[in-house]
Amino acid sequence: MAIDVDTLQKLRTPMEVPPLDLSWLNLNDGHTYGLRAKPGKRGLTLDEIEIGPPGEVPEQSDNRSIRVRGSHPRPEAPRVPGSYVGRADVYSENARLLYEEAVQRQWSSATDIPWNELQPLPDDIERAMCQLCTFLTEVEFIAGDTPGQWLPKINSEHHETKLFLLTQIMDEARHLDVFRKRAFANGGGLLSSLPQDGLRVIIEAKDFTEMSAIMHVAAEGFVQSLFRMGEYIGQNDAEKRIFRMCGQDESRHLGFGVMHLKYVMDNEPWRREEIHHYLDRVETTLAPDPTDDPVSFALFEALAILMGGGIKNIDSGINMSMQVQKKRVNEYMHRLNVAGLGDRRERMNPMLKQFLDN
Ligand SMILES: [Fe+2]
Ligand SMILES: [Fe+2]
Repeated sequence: MAIDVDTLQKLRTPMEVPPLDLSWLNLNDGHTYGLRAKPGKRGLTLDEIEIGPPGEVPEQSDNRSIRVRGSHPRPEAPRVPGSYVGRADVYSENARLLYEEAVQRQWSSATDIPWNELQPLPDDIERAMCQLCTFLTEVEFIAGDTPGQWLPKINSEHHETKLFLLTQIMDEARHLDVFRKRAFANGGGLLSSLPQDGLRVIIEAKDFTEMSAIMHVAAEGFVQSLFRMGEYIGQNDAEKRIFRMCGQDESRHLGFGVMHLKYVMDNEPWRREEIHHYLDRVETTLAPDPTDDPVSFALFEALAILMGGGIKNIDSGINMSMQVQKKRVNEYMHRLNVAGLGDRRERMNPMLKQFLDN
């Protein structure tokens, strides 16, 4: 292709260098220039760098652009749609710590699970494990999709929460894949998809605190109590380790949710009834009625088979399965106590309340 004469002429003319501006060199007059963050015992963590004015998380932010906390604003910066401005809307005091812990404790489902320990299992037990894995794979999809939806709504000045949610997404990706891998690693495969109404409540939440109370505190709390019973549910070291490793990650997700809820209760106590309203909704999905929801009951039966050691011991398995439900409900109540919602005890859905210790 021929180059036209004008273009050729321009290329041959020496380029005009624009006059230097360099005004940005003078911006940092005592604002952040001179701040020197020092590594602590655990290295240069977020806690170590969040010092001086940029380390202060604003209670209200008028920042609607993607300007990061501590930098100089530009008047022409475009707005990004719809982020929260209040700290209490999204904040949790432990977000920095949880982020650092998450980064340090990543693991691989490919190499950190002793897959060679898997041996052929009796048919009923293999199928029960695979039904549980099918359910958990679906659950983990929502647990990853949901924080993903909320990322753009977090103000860039509240980056601690954004960072924490990003680690949660990675954790949930690994949970999703580890349960899928287990389903295909020992002959059982994936079984029945379960009713997803409970999961929709999570992804349809319209407010950050609503989402966090429903997902982190209630739903993931129930999953965590299940993981903690992994020593009884797992049939071999590979499965026990899967539950242990996932439980370790899940503690962070719960920890964020409980401390966010506590932050809201401490700083915006007038939101109490609103939060009870969200819990009313999610509790109905955590206590399905087996008479009108036989498919949800499949999970309960699968757990009973796993913990009892086969269909032949289903009675003792059902007793143990009831113990799991009891553990879940009491741990849920304990977390709400920590968050400052001890009055939930009186208001809990009767299908769950029946399991509460006095
Ligand atoms: Fe998970
Ligand atoms: Fe989780």
